[in-house]
Amino acid sequence: MTAAARNWKAMLAGGQARLETAGIDEAANKLRWVAAHLLGCGLLDVLRHLDGIPPPGLAARFEDAVARLETDEPVQYVIGETDFMGLRIRCDSRALIPRPETEVLAGWAEEFLRGKAAPAAVDVCTGTGCIACALAKHVPGARILATDISPDALDLARANARALGADVAFLQADLLAGVADASMDLVVSNPPYVSTAECHRLDRTVRAFEPRLALDGGEDGLRVISRLVSEAARVLTSGGRLMMEIGDDQAGAVTEILCKTNLLKFLGLKSDCAGRARVALAARIPACR
Ligand SMILES: C[S@@+](CC[C@H](N)C(=O)[O-])C[C@H]1O[C@@H](n2cnc3c(N)ncnc32)[C@H](O)[C@@H]1O
Repeated sequence: MTAAARNWKAMLAGGQARLETAGIDEAANKLRWVAAHLLGCGLLDVLRHLDGIPPPGLAARFEDAVARLETDEPVQYVIGETDFMGLRIRCDSRALIPRPETEVLAGWAEEFLRGKAAPAAVDVCTGTGCIACALAKHVPGARILATDISPDALDLARANARALGADVAFLQADLLAGVADASMDLVVSNPPYVSTAECHRLDRTVRAFEPRLALDGGEDGLRVISRLVSEAARVLTSGGRLMMEIGDDQAGAVTEILCKTNLLKFLGLKSDCAGRARVALAARIPACR
């Protein structure tokens, strides 16, 4: 059987052998994801195509994908997209790949905005724009601004908003610089929160491919979070909310930061489906007259 004439079953088996030899985790799952993407079907539907022989162009794209996966490149960058809150989000090395745990944060943000008429929200550190786009698509009437310090990430976020028809305004800024005082009902953010030392210990698939700027939260991992807390207090309306994703070992430290802040009231922590506290919530205390 020639390479071009192999069916999907043989191509998947051959790719799996190559990835396993290269020591790549979850080889079979990643390859099935690639096949589903190329076939334009769901992951389970790949099984129905196993006996089919792909046209040479598709077979070549599959082989290219195997070669990229062999270097430990994340499968989401290889196929160029991922799912987030039911939306297809384009992904590439300009921004962090949206993670399932960030859907917990976006879900709480969405619920808060839904209870308000024409709310204004800012997604700080937007990356691919996944949170901002989800809020714009899921909360009709919400005015959504998204900021990032990286112009490359913002280009990708703009492309996502365009592709999804999500009405989001974008601003290149260091956190909330340039955002007016008392102008936002919600500040939502998944900031960089990995300590510099931990960044060096991350899996190669993250460390070598995802932007360092998206991960590194400084020596203690709290550098950006601490600045964000004080800046959020400035831009929030009275009673407005701050919602931040935090590292799974940062609940105590972030609670302390929030409790020390005069202008915010710490409201609590929310957990992911594994029961780990991953979202911190606070409310802007009404200003004294
Ligand atoms: C953890 S990623 C989050 C991306 C996206 N919101 C998500 O949840 O998938 C953090 C993002 O923060 C941006 N960033 C880092 N430092 C920043 C700063 N000082 N001001 C604004 N954005 C910053 C990075 O460029 C990166 O896109």
